[in-house]
Amino acid sequence: MSLLAVEDIHTYYDQSHVLQGVSLHVRQGQVVSLLGRNGAGKSTTLCSIMGIVPPRSGDILFNNFSIARQAPYRIARHGIAYVPETRAIFSSLTVLENLTLALRHAQQQDVWNLDSIFRLFPRLRERRGHGGAQLSGGEQQMLSIARALMLNPRMLVLDEPTEGLAPVVIEEIANVLQTLKQEGMTMLLVEQNYPFATALADQLYVLGKGVIRWQGDAAALAQASQIKHTWLGV
Ligand SMILES: Nc1ncnc2c1ncn2[C@@H]1O[C@H](COP(=O)(O)OP(=O)(O)OP(=O)(O)O)[C@@H](O)[C@H]1O
Ligand SMILES: [Mg+2]
Repeated sequence: MSLLAVEDIHTYYDQSHVLQGVSLHVRQGQVVSLLGRNGAGKSTTLCSIMGIVPPRSGDILFNNFSIARQAPYRIARHGIAYVPETRAIFSSLTVLENLTLALRHAQQQDVWNLDSIFRLFPRLRERRGHGGAQLSGGEQQMLSIARALMLNPRMLVLDEPTEGLAPVVIEEIANVLQTLKQEGMTMLLVEQNYPFATALADQLYVLGKGVIRWQGDAAALAQASQIKHTWLGV
């Protein structure tokens, strides 16, 4: 059974028909990656799931409950935490303030608290007094993921966490997501970084021009040269 089921969604920006019948499934504990070129509709798919750009037709079920066309804050309350492409942190607040702001919504007994977050991100502990704007791109990305975890979500939705980061920082993010995966966190990961996505994902979807073009595991995608060439440019 799927924790998240996206069923044939059609999403528009005004007259522009961007998602043309997208379906995808994420099971409990699975890491699913959505790959595709610039403008394929990856972020729009996540925005549809999060209620930011609701689909005009189709359905989205989370834990068997329809969340399509619900308000974003209600969708978040169902336990889906979103790490957007823009890294949602407050640049005028310190690392600690960014984290405790998210903590306000959490319960005492939850798995993710300042202690466990700082164990996962030692660099954030070191920088806890620094302002958001003083952080490197990688540290901002880590803070953005940390804030999402502070909500103790059932599922994490990440939009291109490696974008614009140096290889050594990408490696750090990969290790963090690998740890979360081992601890059973369900994740939907949008990526353009092919090696990063295939190393993490149990299941991959290739999106091209608003349509799912391919679906399978990393081993199968490695063999699918035509798909990679046409829709991923790798
Ligand atoms: N706010 C918007 N208004 C109008 N069109 C938009 C808007 N956001 C995205 N689009 C268009 O929708 C299509 C899909 O964009 P989307 O951002 O979902 O792609 P993407 O796969 O995330 O690309 P990238 O890899 O560059 O982030 C593109 O043609 C884009 O120009
Ligand atoms: Mg995008």
